[in-house]
Amino acid sequence: MKTTISHIKADIGSLPGHTTVYEPVVQEVQKYVSKHSEGLISDFHISHVGDDIQITMIHNHGIDYPEVHELAWNAFKAGTEVAKKAGLYGAGQDLLKDAFSGNIKGMGPGVAEMEITARKSEPFIVYMMDKTEPGAFNFPIYKMFADPFNTPGLVIDPNMHEGFRFEIWDVVEAKKIELSAPENMYDILAMIGSKGKYVIKRVYTKETHEKLPDENVAVITTDKLSLIAGEYVGKDDPAAVVRIQSGLPASGESLEAFSHPFLVSGWMRGSFNGPLMPVGMKYAKMTRFDGPPRVVALGFVLKEGKLAGPVDMFDDPAFDGARKTAVDVVDYLRRMGPFEPHRLPDSEMEYTTLPKVLASLSSRFEPIDVPKKAKKLASSTRDYD
Ligand code: 13P
Ligand code: 13P
Ligand code: MG
Ligand code: MG
Repeated sequence: MKTTISHIKADIGSLPGHTTVYEPVVQEVQKYVSKHSEGLISDFHISHVGDDIQITMIHNHGIDYPEVHELAWNAFKAGTEVAKKAGLYGAGQDLLKDAFSGNIKGMGPGVAEMEITARKSEPFIVYMMDKTEPGAFNFPIYKMFADPFNTPGLVIDPNMHEGFRFEIWDVVEAKKIELSAPENMYDILAMIGSKGKYVIKRVYTKETHEKLPDENVAVITTDKLSLIAGEYVGKDDPAAVVRIQSGLPASGESLEAFSHPFLVSGWMRGSFNGPLMPVGMKYAKMTRFDGPPRVVALGFVLKEGKLAGPVDMFDDPAFDGARKTAVDVVDYLRRMGPFEPHRLPDSEMEYTTLPKVLASLSSRFEPIDVPKKAKKLASSTRDYD
């Protein structure tokens, strides 16, 4: 029998700014899911990172099951009422529609779901990030499933030696492609380096995988709130579910992908590049310059529909070095103020409030008399050998 892991998350209000969740709101979401889950889901866990509340649910109805989505939606609605009463900032921020319409996708919350053939022991990690976007998962997911310097299992373990399949979405043009590693490594990298456009949605084992052929082993939320809402409503802070062990990256190989605090976009006003800092739950709140962007990892084991755990995986001095590097990078970048590449490039500022400021200046521009030669140079494309 197949099992489904559904992870659905939303920012429904925070305090004092976009720092963290409010405990009574989290409790309301917990209470709602608890009260309405009987017969629908077999287990769940509520957690949070920064100002995003996260619901991990286990059931056997498959992905895109309307009642499971509706349960999460209604729980977030109930939590929003508490958030509004308390006057929380951005109460109901990610709930972009009034009424539930059959599928939570496109309504604001982020969704990562996979239907799996649960193994005898089914360990997995839920990664949750705040103050960044789905493309922030490109780097670590690639490292886990395609980089032998991160994951020696790709070299050592015969079950991993054939590599994995990647489903990559073009979130700007709404289309997808499937590519395999190691065969298409360079093609994969040619895309996923552009993390605002191409995002890894899923990773699958290949047919040749002896223990787990053709299985979905990782899934990432790929909802682009800015594209749904048409304006900045907060970054679409992402989450991912990653299965681990026995023919998949080991727990430590999966975590290792976060040992280098690589740069992601988001942070203050969703408008800045900053390092992704791996933290334990006690530091899952966003302070300096509304960040820096953070990732939390919760480790679970699933058995017959029930969860054991979680383990707070980054709550470990072994990641102190990564955190220290992240803070050094923060000090370095912050001195650039509103300049690129600390601030995001124009193309990514489109959905922020910056275009309004620029529009107010547009009538004051005067043409520049550009010399003819310079004009020609600017428009010619050079032909390199
Ligand atoms: P154990 O021998 O403790 O099961 O560990 C195996 C392993 O693969 C560790 O990465
Ligand atoms: P969130 O996307 O986490 O709500 O943050 C928005 C923001 O503007 C932070 O500065
Ligand atoms: Mg917020
Ligand atoms: Mg957030």
